[in-house]
Amino acid sequence: MVEAVQGAGVVVTGAGGGIGAALARRFAAEGARVVVNDLDADKARSVAEEIGAVALPGDASSIVAEARDALGGTIDVYCANAGVGTGGSEAAGEEAWARAWDVNVMAHVRAAEALVPAWLERGSGRFVATVSAAGLLTMVGAAPYSVTKHGAYAFAEWLSLTYRHRGIKVHAICPQGVRTDMLDATGSVGDLVLRPTAIEPEDVADALFKGIEEDRFLILPHPEVAGFYQARAADPDRWLVHMNRIQQKWEENR
Ligand SMILES: NC(=O)c1ccc[n+]([C@@H]2O[C@H](COP(=O)([O-])OP(=O)(O)OC[C@H]3O[C@@H](n4cnc5c(N)ncnc54)[C@H](O)[C@@H]3O)[C@@H](O)[C@H]2O)c1
Repeated sequence: MVEAVQGAGVVVTGAGGGIGAALARRFAAEGARVVVNDLDADKARSVAEEIGAVALPGDASSIVAEARDALGGTIDVYCANAGVGTGGSEAAGEEAWARAWDVNVMAHVRAAEALVPAWLERGSGRFVATVSAAGLLTMVGAAPYSVTKHGAYAFAEWLSLTYRHRGIKVHAICPQGVRTDMLDATGSVGDLVLRPTAIEPEDVADALFKGIEEDRFLILPHPEVAGFYQARAADPDRWLVHMNRIQQKWEENR
């Protein structure tokens, strides 16, 4: 049991399935009071019923006030987990780019805007962003996803450096492939890049709880991502040559 979580009021967005559902289950098992949000109302209700949580269907961008009411006035932990895996190139289209920004970045910004004043007032709060290794590296075949996940990582980093001395804790979870509906939707590029090392959603929850116990910002459910991130920073051109080889391999096999 993690002390910081027992009895805490926790919100998980996009928790009707995949990683969000695993986070919600784990928080509930650790004794937290959980709000399960998802755009898909049936999925939110089904997970909430299973774990004795409150279901809060709707867009993750605008649920903080309702979630706070459902938890009796205080949110202790907010997991900004909902995301869209928008693939494609520079030509993915205005609508797809805008949706990726809205869900993958602006939903985090809007939630923080609604959460931070109360957290600063009481000197505590925890913001968990489900980002992606694509936010540290880059996902072949998915420009909107890569760009917006870099944005989500940058925002989590900014929150952490700005408010850490005032009691707000931030975690950025950056997995590679995780066996969820989103991975299934990535098609041939996911099969090439993500599936061979994919892990279960429960492994992501384990990594987050370890990170909470160790008070770490960056949560890497695939530890090897630390080495890739270092390689990218140490020699960007060499790293790009390596990534371009993966791109070419995908082009040959798709
Ligand atoms: N699966 C992976 O390989 C992987 C890897 C790295 C990061 N991630 C990230 O993990 C998070 C969860 O993804 P997942 O793999 O569990 O996907 P998933 O598709 O299984 O689950 C995502 C859930 O979010 C919900 N959702 C989407 N937009 C929403 C919105 N605006 N408001 C509320 N709910 C919304 C969906 O209905 C769905 O139930 C995402 O942010 C994703 O980018 C996933």
